[in-house]
Amino acid sequence: MATPVLDKVEAESTASPYITVTFRIRRFNPEVSAETTWEDFQLEIDPKERVLDGLHKIKWDLDGTLTFRRSCAHGICGSDAMRINGKNRLACKTLIKDINPEKPITVEAIKGLTVLKDLVVDMEPFFQAYRDVMPFLISYDKNEPTRERLQSPQDRERFDDTTKCILCAACTSSCPVFWNDGQYFGPAAIVNAHRFIFDSRDDAGEQRLEILNDKDGVWRCRTTFNCTDACPRGIEVTKAIQEVKRALITRRF
Ligand code: SF4
Ligand code: FES
Repeated sequence: MATPVLDKVEAESTASPYITVTFRIRRFNPEVSAETTWEDFQLEIDPKERVLDGLHKIKWDLDGTLTFRRSCAHGICGSDAMRINGKNRLACKTLIKDINPEKPITVEAIKGLTVLKDLVVDMEPFFQAYRDVMPFLISYDKNEPTRERLQSPQDRERFDDTTKCILCAACTSSCPVFWNDGQYFGPAAIVNAHRFIFDSRDDAGEQRLEILNDKDGVWRCRTTFNCTDACPRGIEVTKAIQEVKRALITRRF
């Protein structure tokens, strides 16, 4: 005969982990309407699953027209940044249980970039700003190195944080200055400039600083910290921007 304790253990082990959750998604299809609309989807989902899993269930089982980007599903490629419950996050790194599944979970495209369809935005202005800061190592040494360029651990440490960027645009698209006119380089471009400005092996720091000294460069930053809050990699984005500003004033980097 089963004991009450065993009954409880058995009941817990057979209890369904699934709960009913509402995904409220902002839809946009320019071929159908110029307006965006909110659409609700009810899902049975394990709260330990991620928002990305919910979007997959919707796309695969309920509405194949739902459009969003994702690739790695593990926080590496940076393609699935979206506004979830009003905050920029990666859908693949956001667990349902962490965002109050008792209320509808709102999902919409990141702000400040033109929405092409549903959750997909035009990333070209974002990547243009990235290209503008020359995000690659530049050496003016005419002699081809015969071995790797050495660097001390202390020199490497200076830009360690900014090497972690996955170009998801969560920072730039959470910045009110970027929302205003879209001309500002934005936090992500500055983070990637920082990564090379403070690299002791690179020779083009001065050029990058001049690029960011532009009217649409670092001085547009109003230090609202939205970017730091939004970064899924935990990069101290505002601090990096401040360091670039300081380097511009002192020209020491
Ligand atoms: S700094 Fe962070 S939020 Fe901004 S693009 Fe890089 S990883 Fe994304
Ligand atoms: S799908 Fe690659 S970071 Fe989320």
